[in-house]
Amino acid sequence: MTIAGRFEVRAILVLGLAFSCCVAESTLRRGLVGAAGPTDFNVNSYGAKADGKTDNVEAFMKAWVAACKSDGGPARLVFPKGTYVTGPLVFAGKCKASKITVEVQGTIKATTDISEYSSPEWILFESISGLTLTGGIFDGRGETVWKYNDCHQNSDCQLLPSSIKFSKLTNTVVHGITSLNSKSFHMHVNMCQNFKAYDLTITAPSDSPNTDGIHISSSDHVDVSHSVIGTGDDCISIGQGVTSLGVTSITCGPGHGISVGSLGKYDDEKDVSGVVVSNCTLRKTTNGVRIKTYSGSSPSKASGITFQDIIMDEVKNPIIIDQNYGSHKSAASKVQISGVHYKNIVGTSTSDVAMSLLCSSQVPCDVELVDIDLKFQGSSDKEKSTSSSCLNAKVKTGGKLNPPACR
Ligand SMILES: *[C@@H]1O[C@H](CO)[C@@H](O)[C@H](O)[C@H]1NC(C)=O
Repeated sequence: MTIAGRFEVRAILVLGLAFSCCVAESTLRRGLVGAAGPTDFNVNSYGAKADGKTDNVEAFMKAWVAACKSDGGPARLVFPKGTYVTGPLVFAGKCKASKITVEVQGTIKATTDISEYSSPEWILFESISGLTLTGGIFDGRGETVWKYNDCHQNSDCQLLPSSIKFSKLTNTVVHGITSLNSKSFHMHVNMCQNFKAYDLTITAPSDSPNTDGIHISSSDHVDVSHSVIGTGDDCISIGQGVTSLGVTSITCGPGHGISVGSLGKYDDEKDVSGVVVSNCTLRKTTNGVRIKTYSGSSPSKASGITFQDIIMDEVKNPIIIDQNYGSHKSAASKVQISGVHYKNIVGTSTSDVAMSLLCSSQVPCDVELVDIDLKFQGSSDKEKSTSSSCLNAKVKTGGKLNPPACR
């Protein structure tokens, strides 16, 4: 079956459940009328089994539909303690419940047969207003499938499913979640507005492919804070169409650091504007704070980007702009980078070029550097100083700069 075909079957299953659920739901609700707080929907009441082997897709979908369609007030979908196994899940609105909390008290583990994953995520939350997702461990069990990822040698590769995708949501809070060993991205935030995430723990080995911590695209007013993210790829990656993003108090490592981009892979990408990354620590990552755009890209803009109060601990490329990413090296990138501020960035670099601002010959970038102190820390005892490297960059400076800015 085609991917689209399989997806339709799944959508019909979800709809079918929407109709069959409602007798049980209204009976349940009648018993709870008058109770303070949200109405609880316990997945075990819909047949879920926390036995570490039963595939609970159907029970979870029934419980979701009941919670989502419950009338009027707030609803809470509860996954009690224990280990639940499930294949792909679609938690889709619109919901009738005024707001909806999904509370995981135990562990949810993904099935490992990737032929079951007809769309590119394990758990999808879509078209919901007022979702809170809290608690629990989401174990993507990527270690069983990472060997099938060939993206390092095939630029048209199909990514494995992300663990949790948030799509078309408004007013969302995600907190207190642990995400382990996703098959590809741990979390993907796309087309969301007013999205807050905090107290997340995201973990995968340093050599796991494409296991980005949080990828954000086409979203407005997103805040990610107070989290610890160590993976095999970007800690947080910021794609096209992101406006008003705050990233604060994050510890990253291992992995590839915090990245705006890659931008400019596709035609007609939306601009990125208003990104503030502050109070973060990058520990033993390959990059610290990076902006990367494809060479030979279509025009777009990335503007108003601040990296402030950042500690680098043995980072290979602490400050880096790379506008010559990808395979079309001969053509310049047309992603215009402007209004980038680096302030109070201190710590250690494991390469001597601690600052590398390689911008586009077509659209030079403008950058401000204030109070940078990056010392070299190599494996030999040799004292080396750090240096910076620039191309097509207009640089303004302030405060103390080590390495000195290039001009
Ligand atoms: C800065 O980040 C650290 C580590 O995440 C955190 O403990 C601290 O509270 C943060 N400081 C502020 C002012 O947010």
